[in-house]
Amino acid sequence: MQHQDRVVVVTGGLGGIGRAIAERYVQDGASVAIVDMDAARGEALCAEWKAAGHKVAFAAADVADYQACERAADQLQSVLGPIDTLVNNAGISPKHDGHPMAFYKMDPAEWNRVMNVNLNSAFNWSRILTPGMVERKFGRIVSMSSVAGKANIVDIVAAHYSTTKAALIGFTRHLAGELGPHGITVNALAPGRINTPLLKTVVSSANEEVVQETPLRRLGEPVEVADACLFLTSPSAAFITGQVVDVAGGWMLT
Ligand SMILES: NC(=O)c1ccc[n+]([C@@H]2O[C@H](COP(=O)([O-])OP(=O)(O)OC[C@H]3O[C@@H](n4cnc5c(N)ncnc54)[C@H](O)[C@@H]3O)[C@@H](O)[C@H]2O)c1
Repeated sequence: MQHQDRVVVVTGGLGGIGRAIAERYVQDGASVAIVDMDAARGEALCAEWKAAGHKVAFAAADVADYQACERAADQLQSVLGPIDTLVNNAGISPKHDGHPMAFYKMDPAEWNRVMNVNLNSAFNWSRILTPGMVERKFGRIVSMSSVAGKANIVDIVAAHYSTTKAALIGFTRHLAGELGPHGITVNALAPGRINTPLLKTVVSSANEEVVQETPLRRLGEPVEVADACLFLTSPSAAFITGQVVDVAGGWMLT
């Protein structure tokens, strides 16, 4: 129970990895706010967890929309109190018939949407929540990068995705430097191939190839990413900041 007094927000908290992260925080005693797109699913999940005695809240928002994120943050903090732990997890990886779009054919609208959802969302939530963290001299931020931010996996993701995941590493390292003096740690996770709905957007042969290239010879499970996330925001990791932790079974080791 290392997160008992924490108020956590998980963006994309209804997806494979996000839901596992939210669930692990709930189990660890935190108050947990989930932000995602589908209000009906979000409210249903919260009702289930509230019935089990947990402190949870849901806000429907497009994380790419700064004003919508501000409204969601106000709504969630009025229910759960000031948020001290932010998990920038929401992300998309558009595919076309199971394949990433070739760069030289990419529609600028698709490029911009991925920038907004994967990268600008992390700016939005960090910008909205850090004034309170600075004021209270405590905060924890974890952003979901990917091994795609560090290595070429052109059969699985397109240029926009790799670009945003690399940018999140720069964002993490910069914020760690700037916000450290205010008692805020900022880290990133770089999952390899994790067994979530996102995985099913590519042809299955691509995932089979990843398993063969992964030293541990399997896909990861969402809870394994969640456990790493909880470690990074726990008191056990209080002196760790600016780091990118692979949760990848040794795949694409750089
Ligand atoms: N699954 C993997 O193998 C893998 C590997 C590396 C990194 N990641 C990253 O982990 C994160 C979670 O991925 P996942 O596999 O759980 O995917 P997922 O598709 O299962 O979940 C993503 C969640 O984000 C939500 N979301 C998407 N766009 C949103 C928006 N604009 N506003 C609010 N919510 C939005 C979706 O509704 C969904 O619930 C992503 O950032 C992804 O890039 C995943």
